[in-house]
Amino acid sequence: MKQAAAKHVTIGIGGGISAYRTLELIRLLKKNEASITVAPTKAALHFVTELSLETLSQNACLSLPLQTNNGQISHIEEAYQSDLIIIAPATCDLIAKMAHGFADEILLQTLLSFQGPVLIAPAMETHMWQHPATQANIETLRNRGVQIIGPDNGDLASGRQGLGRMASVNALFEHILSALTPKDFAGIEALVTAGPTVENLDPVRFLSNHSSGKMGVALARALAQRGALVHLVHGPLSVAIPELSNIKSYPVRSTHDMLEQVLELAANVQLAICCAAVADYRQAKIAQEKIKRSEDTITLSLVKNPDILARLGQTSPKPFLIGFAAETANLEINAKAKCQQKNCDLICANLISKSNPAFATDDNEVLILDQKGPVLHIKSQRKDCVARLILDTVHQRLVF
Ligand SMILES: Cc1cc2nc3c(=O)[nH]c(=O)nc-3n(C[C@H](O)[C@H](O)[C@H](O)COP(=O)(O)O)c2cc1C
Repeated sequence: MKQAAAKHVTIGIGGGISAYRTLELIRLLKKNEASITVAPTKAALHFVTELSLETLSQNACLSLPLQTNNGQISHIEEAYQSDLIIIAPATCDLIAKMAHGFADEILLQTLLSFQGPVLIAPAMETHMWQHPATQANIETLRNRGVQIIGPDNGDLASGRQGLGRMASVNALFEHILSALTPKDFAGIEALVTAGPTVENLDPVRFLSNHSSGKMGVALARALAQRGALVHLVHGPLSVAIPELSNIKSYPVRSTHDMLEQVLELAANVQLAICCAAVADYRQAKIAQEKIKRSEDTITLSLVKNPDILARLGQTSPKPFLIGFAAETANLEINAKAKCQQKNCDLICANLISKSNPAFATDDNEVLILDQKGPVLHIKSQRKDCVARLILDTVHQRLVF
C-alpha cells in the first residue's frame, strides 16, 4: 500500500507564478494514492486553469466562496474530510489573510474550519518575503503551529535570483508524507549508513561495489518521517536524499572516512543501522600517478579495512545496533553468526540471488534475525515498504 493511500489532502493554490509547479505535486500525490481536493484562489485561476486542476486531481475544485454541494456547506465538509492542508504557493496576500483570520476565499474558510496539520510553501520576490509585515505574519503562523516549507534561494519570476523561490515539489511531497505519519520515533537520534564506500587505486581508478544506497536512504526517510533525527553517513549515492530538515547528510568516500564519521556520531545516537556496503579491502598504497597500461598483468596489494559494524558493537554505551548481511549461501546460519560476532541487536539478511539481486534494485527481500535466530521474514517488496517493516520490528524492541 502506498503511504498516502486513504488520506485526503486539500491543496490550496495562491496567485503566484509558481502555481504551475503545484500541478506536478498533485500528480505525485495521486500516484501515491492520496485523494485530493484543490482549492485555488480567484487570483490563482489567472495562473492555472480549473480544467487542469480537476483533471489531475480527478476531483471538482473548491473555488467559489459561497459554494454548496447537494445542500452541504462545501468548506465545512472539506475541513472535516481532510487529513492535511497544504498551500503552495502561499502568496504574501494569503499569508497575511491567514495570519489575521480572513475568510473571503473558500480556501480561507476551509482553513478556519480545519483542525489538522497545515503546511505552507511561501513563494514571492525577495523583498516581499523580507518585508517586516510578511515576516511578522509568518511568525504568527509559525507560533500557531503552521509548518513553513522554504522558500528557497534561486531563480525568481522577475528573472532575478534570490530568496523567495517556492520549495521543490519533492520537498513539499516529503513534508506532506512526513506530516501524515505518526511520530513513534520522536525524540530518537539515529545513525544510518548507506551506499558503497570507494577505495582509490590511483588518481583516476577505484574499487567499489554495486550498492545504490536505496535501502539505506529508504530507512533514513522512514525514520525521519516517524520523527527521528537522522544522521545519514553515506558513500556516493545513486538516489536523492529526501529534503527533510531532520535528515543530516554526511558524505564520505572510503571505509576509513565512514568509520571516522560514524564513531564521531555514535555516542549521541540511540539507534544505529549499518546498511552501507563498505569496501572490505583497500589498496595498501594508493599510486600517486596513474597506473600505466604497459604491463600485461598488474597485481593489486589489498589490505583489510576496519570493521565498522564490529566497532559500533564494542562502543559503550552501545546504541541499539542493526547490521545488514548480504549472503550468497547459508543465509540463516551466516547471518545469525554475524549478529552474535558483531554484538548486534538485529541483522537484516539478504540472500543475494538472481531473483533477489538486492543491490541497486527497487525491491528487496529480507530476513530479520536476532542473536537467537529468525524474527521476521519480509517478502520481496519495494524498499520503502521493507524499511517501514524493519522499523516496526525495531520499535517493538527499542526501549524509549
Ligand atoms: C505576474 C504576477 C506574478 C505574481 N507572483 C506572485 C508571487 O509569486 N507571490 C506573491 O505573493 N504574489 C504574487 N503576485 C501578486 C498576487 O497575485 C496578488 O497579491 C494576488 O492578490 C494574490 O491573491 P491570492 O493571495 O488570493 O492568491 C503576482 C502577481 C502577478 C501579476
